[in-house]
This record gives sequence, structure tokens and C-alpha cells, in this order.
Amino acid sequence: MPEGSVIREGSTDILVPIDHSVHGPGKKMGSVFFNEQMSFNRDVSVMFLRAIGRDRMTVADAMTATGSRAVRIANEVPGTEVTANDISPSAIPYIEENIRLNSLSNCIASNKNLHILFTEESYDYVDLDPFGSPVPYIQSAVRGCAKHGILAITATDTAPLAGAHSPKCRRRYQCEPVRGYMCHESGLRILMCNIARELAKFDRGMKPLLSFYADHYFRTYVQVTEGAKAADDSLAQLGYMGHDDSTMERSISKLPDADHRLGPFWMGPLHDAGLLGRMDPAGMAEEKRCSKYLDLWRNELDDQVYVYDMSEMSSHLRMSPPRIDDFILMLNEHGRASKSHVSPTCFKTDIPLEELKVLYRESSPDRSR
Ligand SMILES: C[S@@+](CC[C@H](N)C(=O)[O-])C[C@H]1O[C@@H](n2cnc3c(N)ncnc32)[C@H](O)[C@@H]1O
Repeated sequence: MPEGSVIREGSTDILVPIDHSVHGPGKKMGSVFFNEQMSFNRDVSVMFLRAIGRDRMTVADAMTATGSRAVRIANEVPGTEVTANDISPSAIPYIEENIRLNSLSNCIASNKNLHILFTEESYDYVDLDPFGSPVPYIQSAVRGCAKHGILAITATDTAPLAGAHSPKCRRRYQCEPVRGYMCHESGLRILMCNIARELAKFDRGMKPLLSFYADHYFRTYVQVTEGAKAADDSLAQLGYMGHDDSTMERSISKLPDADHRLGPFWMGPLHDAGLLGRMDPAGMAEEKRCSKYLDLWRNELDDQVYVYDMSEMSSHLRMSPPRIDDFILMLNEHGRASKSHVSPTCFKTDIPLEELKVLYRESSPDRSR
């Protein structure tokens, strides 16, 4: 048996290396990677696949390390046939021990380079969870995704995607990122744009089912749609953005121009409301956190791409912020507004900017002083 200790996540026992990451993006500390903080990410996969609710589903966890996500899916999602794959030979004893610990007959260990795995086999659900950017792996994942399958992709290269390292974002994603207050939602939309473009090369499109930013990473689940029209429809959802810091003005355009240099971004929805409605946090390792995020995702305005931040409004208008919950309630009397899941100080609204500024001034506590 490989060295380590057994932890319980959800209803699954997992042998993990003693030396493992607990917080942050996580790094390989021993011979095999494990990050405790990603238990929420694995919870979401379990809730997501249960809500998909297919009678039988083949799953490839292509970069599984200890097999943690793969064995949780095999153990906690009925009807799944899981391949737990990792290129590293040191990962295999952990995967095999985790299959044994949970007495799983629907999970197999595989020790392949995923580029090879996906030329040999295709799966209904393909999961990519690399160190950093998923870009080098997306094309292979598309090949390995069966017709009408699902791609689930994590990106931990937050600095390039969120505009802290623009040259790298240009190189990796051929996108101009946004810095500042809108950086996380736009980082997520850059990742999604990249997936749509990769799928389009194969005459395939996508329908996002769930997409989010949490902790240090971006994650999206997309349903693959088939055919040239599906690909064209997805590409039609890409667009560019302009953002003037001095006025807070945001604008979008189908094509890039001098006022719309940022992007391209996925401008379509992030989630599928029906699926979110069926996701159930009961029994998850981080049940409270799952409930909180489900609430945020279900309630956020998914037809609005502009995100505003309370600090941005306050520093622009030089006024103290109202309580965000009160402010959103008030905005909903004038239009539509919701919190955004990317940050507790961010919100979305369809109210035009000039009216929004007036409403913010009226709600600021400074006004009654
Ligand atoms: C961030 S870790 C995965 C963590 C894991 N999904 C979890 O939840 O604990 C990335 C893994 O990808 C594996 N990997 C890197 N390149 C690969 C490739 N080309 N094919 C398959 N696995 C690969 C590494 O060995 C490493 O174990």
C-alpha cells in the first residue's frame, strides 16, 4: 500500500499522500498531487453528475492524480463507469488503493498520456484538471468526448486569465484580458471562448451547464452540441468588450474595434437553470458551501455580462457603499439585479449606468449625514 492517510470526502474514503496541499492553488508536494481545498470542486462534480441523471454514463477523469474525483464519482453517482487516468506511474498505486478501499467495480485505473487515451476511446463525460492552463489538453479532450457528451474543465492559471499577466493570456488564449473589477467573470468567459473555438474546429458547439470562479480557479461544464450549425451558433456568442475606467462605461461589440479591444469572450449564458435546480448539496463534504454557491448561481442574472463592484462604485462616486443586499433589493424595484458569484462585493444588473449611479448615490449612507 502506498504511504498516506485515509480521509473521508462525501461518502468516499480516499487515501492521500501525507504531504499534500491544504489551501491555495496547490502544488505537487510528494510524488502524487492532492489538494484538500478542492473538495468543494469535487463536490460540485458529484452534484452535477447526479443532476444529469443518465442511467449509464462513461466518465474519464483524465488527470486524476490520487483518483480522488474519479472514485467519488464512481462511488457517489449511480450508473457511472469511470476511467481514472494519470500519466504518472506513481499515481497508479493510489488510484488502485482508492478503488479497493471503496470496493468499486465500476472504476478502473489507467496510466496513459491523455493525448493517447483520447485517440483510443471516447467518453460521455471528460474531466480535465491540470496544473495551470488546460489549453494544451482541450483539443484532445474534444476528441475524447462522445457525441452530445460533456466537457468539464478547470483552469488554475488565474493570473493570465484575470489580466494580471496579459502577455501570457494573449499567447495561451489569443485573448485580451480585463484587469480590475471585472477580471474574474471575464477570465471565466475567456476560458469558455477558448473551448467554443476548439470545439468549432470539429464542427461542434457548446451549451454551458455550469461555470464558475471559486478560490483560485475557473471551472466550466459544457454540453457538447453537434454539427456545423451548432458550431456557428456557439461562435456567434463570442464578442468583444470596451471598459472605460474613468467613467465605468462598459460596452460590447460583435467585432473588435478601437473601443472594443478586450476579448474575445463567451457572451452567452454561464449556467443551465434546469440543471442547477436539480443539484442537491445533501451529503456533500462541504454541504454549507455547496448550498451557498447553488443559491448564488441560481439567482445570478445570467443574461447580463457586465459585473459591477461596490468598491468600484464607491471610489468612482466618492461615496461610502450601502449594504449590498439592501442595494440589490432597491435595484430590483427599478430593473433587475442580482449578486454575482465571483465576489461578495460584485453584482449584475440591467439598469443603465447613469441611472445606476443615481441610485447608488441615493442609497449611500453618506446621503443621510
Ligand atoms: C492538478 S493534478 C490533478 C488533481 C486531481 N484531479 C484531484 O482532484 O486531486 C494534475 C495531474 O495531471 C497529471 N498529468 C499531467 N499531464 C498529463 C497528461 N498529459 N496525461 C495525463 N495526466 C497528466 C499529473 O500527473 C497530475 O497528477
